[in-house]
Amino acid sequence: MDELIKYNQERWQALVDAGVEYTRPYADYDPQKAIDYVNRWADIKRHNLTDWTGKDVLCLASGGGQQSVCFSLTGGNVSVIDLTPGQLKQDREMAEKYGYSLRVEQGDMRDLSRFEDESFDLVYQAYSINFIPDPWTVFAEVKRVLKPNGLYYLQFGNPLWNMEETDWTEKGYPIRQPYVQGQPSNPDELPWDVEQPDGTYIKVEGPKEFCHTFGTIFNGLGDNGMYIFAMVEVPEGDASAKPGTWEHLKSYLPVWPAVWAKKIS
Ligand SMILES: C[S@@+](CC[C@H](N)C(=O)[O-])C[C@H]1O[C@@H](n2cnc3c(N)ncnc32)[C@H](O)[C@@H]1O
Repeated sequence: MDELIKYNQERWQALVDAGVEYTRPYADYDPQKAIDYVNRWADIKRHNLTDWTGKDVLCLASGGGQQSVCFSLTGGNVSVIDLTPGQLKQDREMAEKYGYSLRVEQGDMRDLSRFEDESFDLVYQAYSINFIPDPWTVFAEVKRVLKPNGLYYLQFGNPLWNMEETDWTEKGYPIRQPYVQGQPSNPDELPWDVEQPDGTYIKVEGPKEFCHTFGTIFNGLGDNGMYIFAMVEVPEGDASAKPGTWEHLKSYLPVWPAVWAKKIS
């Protein structure tokens, strides 16, 4: 395990312990809620991705008991791989609670060698590609493990987003760093604010994240035979919100957009 992976695993475990949103499992889901989750944005809803019955699904670097719940409850044969033991524990707990079987693997998203060639109908990668500096290995591995015409959902950090609410001036939000592939995207090492059940916040040192340019994302998928059939520009903000707030900042650009692609060659 290299230094980065060791560090990020430790940081993600700390975020699990602190109960950050991305580590809270979907413990009150049913099949309809799960379908609604997968189709939750207008630009994907029209593709009607509702039937996962019997489909082989890999939740890639997507532990935490959220996406594995959704695809299992809608009939998929689900595998999940993630770096962080605390995240995978929640996938196991949800499988036990809902009563489905689940393959759970701990590992780095860049090494999918434990999975056979052409073994998945869908690889679903919630926001995680920015926790490594070199996404090309992942794209090549996703291509290898996808069946022909298999789908890849990839959410990623907008490379133009490195702004802070507190930086607001009447001229807008300054971008804090240049647009360069692979450079750390939290150079100031700002800690994460994690909301607690009583409404207070605690600060937790976050994992390392890296900028991936649009060229890296789109060419990386194209070079691996993927046809992008949908893009969702999320999360949506509110331009009428108070300037200097997260809601307002999000109206300046989609912070974590996502694409759906199909392996066509
Ligand atoms: C923001 S969470 C995304 C998944 C979560 N289920 C959700 O809905 O938000 C990011 C996940 O990426 C995982 N991760 C970070 N670096 C990784 C790596 N190199 N290989 C595998 N998983 C990684 C973390 O453990 C964490 O579970």
